[in-house]
Amino acid sequence: MRHLLTTKGLDSDTAITLLDVAEDMADVADREIRKLPTLRGKTVVNLFFEDSTRTRISFEAAAKRLSADVINFSAKGSSVSKGESLKDTAQTLAAIGADGVVIRHPASGAPQVLADSGWIDAGIINAGDGTHEHPTQALLDAFTIRRRLHGKASRGKDLDGVTVTIVGDILHSRVARSNVWLLAGLGADVTLVAPPTLVPADTSGWPARVEFDLDAAVDTQPDVVMMLRIQAERMHGSFFPNSREYSRRWGLDDARFARLGTDSIVMHPGPMNRGLEISSMAADSQQSTVREQVANGVSVRMAALYLLLSGDREGTK
Ligand code: NCD
Repeated sequence: MRHLLTTKGLDSDTAITLLDVAEDMADVADREIRKLPTLRGKTVVNLFFEDSTRTRISFEAAAKRLSADVINFSAKGSSVSKGESLKDTAQTLAAIGADGVVIRHPASGAPQVLADSGWIDAGIINAGDGTHEHPTQALLDAFTIRRRLHGKASRGKDLDGVTVTIVGDILHSRVARSNVWLLAGLGADVTLVAPPTLVPADTSGWPARVEFDLDAAVDTQPDVVMMLRIQAERMHGSFFPNSREYSRRWGLDDARFARLGTDSIVMHPGPMNRGLEISSMAADSQQSTVREQVANGVSVRMAALYLLLSGDREGTK
């Protein structure tokens, strides 16, 4: 693997290999010395043009646990036009000898531009591009689901027949897009639930069903309910009447959470709007994987960095 840009193009064998390597990395986290020498001498740059808490710190922790040198570059607020600034930045990173670049950018497709540009010969990992994709988030979600379902016997397993309901702001969510492709590719049965105004105009090519009634979806007792954040920063119009109305119809409130079977797991990529898309009771319950998702993010990102950057990158595809 040369870059990790999307889950749409990721075949299931590669995805399972990544999840299995992440299991090995999780084992390292349980040891007394939680560090591997694998990427000693390599430089990883975290290039963040958009805010991030979890993703940025977990990429940093992942690179450090593999003994890479890490440079954090927060590019938010740059006034240079996007194409130019990306090119200039890439050439600077090439000049300092970056082996890997983890990029988050508000423009969909920016990581692909970087990978195709020839400005820099580094492994590129997409850490979220606009409303397009966020592949490591989907991988850590798949890893979390697999572990909850199979525990220590997770290795080698796909998600055949697992029912996953993704709820909320699908329109603006790169997490939803990456998860639809990855989870369906691993055999899961994916349903999207949202207000009609927060569903993309054309989802006919997506391997998922679209529904509008959360109560009906909850009553099917899906194995996984994944709540998404309302992305107010990407909304330039009115997509629902007000937040009370939103949580009444599309929030995982206490009543809906109580109706969900105790076998269903509740996920959220964070940051959560408590009381809007998810109640505290649901978010802090035994069924919630919110904190596991963050911990697993480090293992999955270690796996991605390892598969991209260890050994000789020459000739890798
Ligand atoms: C997500 C993101 O930034 O795409 N957060 C994350 O990476 N954990 C989801 C979000 O911001 O709602």
